[in-house]
Amino acid sequence: MTLGARGGGGGVKQSKANSWSAQRPEHVVRPPPPPRARSRASGGGRSARARWARPLPAPPSVAAPSTRRAPAARPGAPARARARRGEVEAPPAPHPRARPRRALSPFGAGGASARAARAAVVGSGTVRAMASSASSTADGVAVVGSGLIGRSWAMLFASGGFRVKLYDIEQQQVTGALDTIRKEMKLLEQSGALKGSLGAEEQLALISGCSDLREAVEGTVHIQECVPENLELKQQLFAQLDQIVDGNVVLSSSSSCLLPSKLFAGLVHVRQCLVAHPVNPPYHVPLVELVPHPETAPATMDRTYALMRQIGQSPVRILKEVDGFALNRLQYALIGEAWRLVEAGIVSPGDLDLVMSDGLGLRYAFIGPLETMHLNAEDVANNSSSNAFSGDASTIKPSADLDGMLSYCDRYREGMKRVLKTFGPIPEFSGAVAEKVHQAMCVKVPDDPEHLAARREWRDGCLMRLAKLKGQVQPP
Ligand code: NAI
Repeated sequence: MTLGARGGGGGVKQSKANSWSAQRPEHVVRPPPPPRARSRASGGGRSARARWARPLPAPPSVAAPSTRRAPAARPGAPARARARRGEVEAPPAPHPRARPRRALSPFGAGGASARAARAAVVGSGTVRAMASSASSTADGVAVVGSGLIGRSWAMLFASGGFRVKLYDIEQQQVTGALDTIRKEMKLLEQSGALKGSLGAEEQLALISGCSDLREAVEGTVHIQECVPENLELKQQLFAQLDQIVDGNVVLSSSSSCLLPSKLFAGLVHVRQCLVAHPVNPPYHVPLVELVPHPETAPATMDRTYALMRQIGQSPVRILKEVDGFALNRLQYALIGEAWRLVEAGIVSPGDLDLVMSDGLGLRYAFIGPLETMHLNAEDVANNSSSNAFSGDASTIKPSADLDGMLSYCDRYREGMKRVLKTFGPIPEFSGAVAEKVHQAMCVKVPDDPEHLAARREWRDGCLMRLAKLKGQVQPP
């Protein structure tokens, strides 16, 4: 794909060709979007580079509680002023009527002032801030790119009570996104599936469109980038943002598989940057992978983790960047073996999918592969066929205690290793096998836009009901 420079000095370069879906691992069947027009993003102007010379604050109390208590925040201006002076670390403050999610909030119960009171001691003896503190007005979030993922993020942030500025290089995309969001929120409200404690109209009132990047990010505590998966395009956008932002905002990319070390290379505000990779559809699948650049400050990870929890998402920390992060590595491992099994004529494409949807997938909606191992082997004392003593004596406990994971490893390690050795090379994902799989899929879901849209809608409905079930069933 060739990229043409658009816009004025410092402006964002925009893809001329329509190859945005080329790197969309989470959404391989999505039809390509229409070509976009020229960028109207203005140049960045004077940057906050000089101001960013100060050291980045240490992590807030999300993961590791502080040993020293920050002063309790009073609502409103004084706390915000302290934050601006760099004294108090606190998570972003949502709309005052947005109830804190008690079960999900890493700051526990108690709302904004309690969250501020739990702010961390940071820096070398100094309590500093990246964020604004408890306030009577909702903090702002900017969503840059208002396509499929940008729209979902906007809805999620609004559900958490945050003001959202939705920006796109194409004004009509913003207009269309606002329209779609309104319809979706109304439907969600009617079906009782609207997230958050605010009504649809209240949430909609928090979202506004914006046609100027600088205006969109002004005063925000978090910027969520959602432009097409193209390294050069994203690099140019982050370079532009780097010129505009100050030290109080997190710069977050929705990228599915671009490495933070490439995305944020050379940025002055690199310590404020990370990838927050959602799963499609983000409104119904809560997982978000947080992936740091090697220089990302722990505070950036912690604050984004807290923000994700505040909006009801389920963040995971990827501790070191790796191609594909965790989700797509697992997904590609599955897709690769599924493809090989079909290619070798071992199972039909339809039956292969059933292995997941009627087999592994049922468990995986509630427990992961590691916990599956842990639960799938009973105490060897109760199982006479066990080969409990065949393992490494230094790592295996006496048979009477051998249960759970160690029992599973002991029983199945040789079998797992034997089968894993038979896995074949990386498939080509093309040619006759691709045609065969395509035909099989079309029997189930014809590949015209109407059928695909209907199936996606059905999928989203299933996910909604599953989310409700997951909310009802708590582990013992
Ligand atoms: P999309 O193509 O639906 O939307 C992209 C939007 O960005 C368009 O509205 C476009 O006009 C706008 N845009 C293009 N250049 C821009 C610029 N310079 N400034 C502002 N806006 C600009 O793409 P989609 O699917 O929403 O993906 C966005 C990001 O989210 C990608 O990085 C993708 O990898 C990631 N992602 C996508 C998932 C999916 O299943 N679609 C899942 C998880 C992450």
